[in-house]
Amino acid sequence: MPNTDSSQPSTPGNGASASARFAPMVAQLSAEIAAARNAPELANAKARALGKDGALTAEMKKLGALAPAERSAVGRELNEAKQAVERAVRSREAALARAELDARLAQEAIDVTLPGRGAGTGGLHPLTLTIERIEAIFHSIGFDVADGPEIEEDFFNFTALNTPENHPARSMHDTFYVDAPDGKGGGLLLRTHTSPVQVRYARRHQPPIKVIAPGKTYRVDSDATHSPMFHQFEGLWIDEDVSFADLKSVYADFLRRFFERDDLDVRFRPSYFPFTEPSAEIDMRFADGPLAGRWLEVSGSGQVHPNVVRNFGLDPERYIGFAFGSGIERLAMLRYGVGDLRMFYENDLRFLQQFNR
Ligand code: DAH
Repeated sequence: MPNTDSSQPSTPGNGASASARFAPMVAQLSAEIAAARNAPELANAKARALGKDGALTAEMKKLGALAPAERSAVGRELNEAKQAVERAVRSREAALARAELDARLAQEAIDVTLPGRGAGTGGLHPLTLTIERIEAIFHSIGFDVADGPEIEEDFFNFTALNTPENHPARSMHDTFYVDAPDGKGGGLLLRTHTSPVQVRYARRHQPPIKVIAPGKTYRVDSDATHSPMFHQFEGLWIDEDVSFADLKSVYADFLRRFFERDDLDVRFRPSYFPFTEPSAEIDMRFADGPLAGRWLEVSGSGQVHPNVVRNFGLDPERYIGFAFGSGIERLAMLRYGVGDLRMFYENDLRFLQQFNR
């Protein structure tokens, strides 16, 4: 028996084992089969040998015309020829399949010597890092951390904070009001500061109250130093005997730890806010560095107005409190030396990656 292992490549000589009468034809057909470069070519070569009009099929048809004795001898040789051609087809089929697999494996091969592409690990946004830093510092001196809704009620954002009906902050130019389906807005707005959290928190907690509330705030405003969305953190400290001196020491201590500098000057400059009386801006000054000597405004603050203490549900004759509200972008810009507020929101990786090395 000739070799029937179809994994061996077929050769034109494969058919030579068929008997001599058909040997040249088998050799010719096997050569065509072996030369097929792909499945369709192989199918054609096979059809030329064994198909309806194939060469061997034609020989089969001639058998009927032969004398019986000759017919069986020729028939046997023809069968052997057919089997030889079929072996050639199977062998070529296997070779083509193997070649296709090899090509695919080569194409899909992984070059383990290439440097990895590396999955980015991501990192925290500089404002998130700043918020975490603020929380850690205040936490360490006994302040709780709270938050409140960004879509806020007019009552908490303005009314409860003693803000008069005609105060400019309430105008459409400054505040984003929320349209409700009823067309009235239902008294909802995007909070313009974190101060409403003072009211929400104080109504649910008993003094002494020491809390900060960082979060997003919104105003109709947009330029190099203003963004319609920005971050603030509110501070509130209510007890029976806290004073401006306590507020000053807490805030100055915070600034020195936030900037990691002992040589910071801090001053309170008289100001006005509806929810505090008296009110002050907190300014700070670096002793050296590029901003040395310039007073930089970092926070609003003040003694909580008695009307607001009353809206906390507390007796202003007994409880006194101090509050502050600081811009987080402002502190981050000063700490990292960022010149344009908008860089925080552009999501440029070249900027962001510098904070996560
Ligand atoms: N809410 C004020 C603002 O957005 C900042 C502020 C001032 C907060 C004085 C306070 C405060 O708690 O006491 O500008």
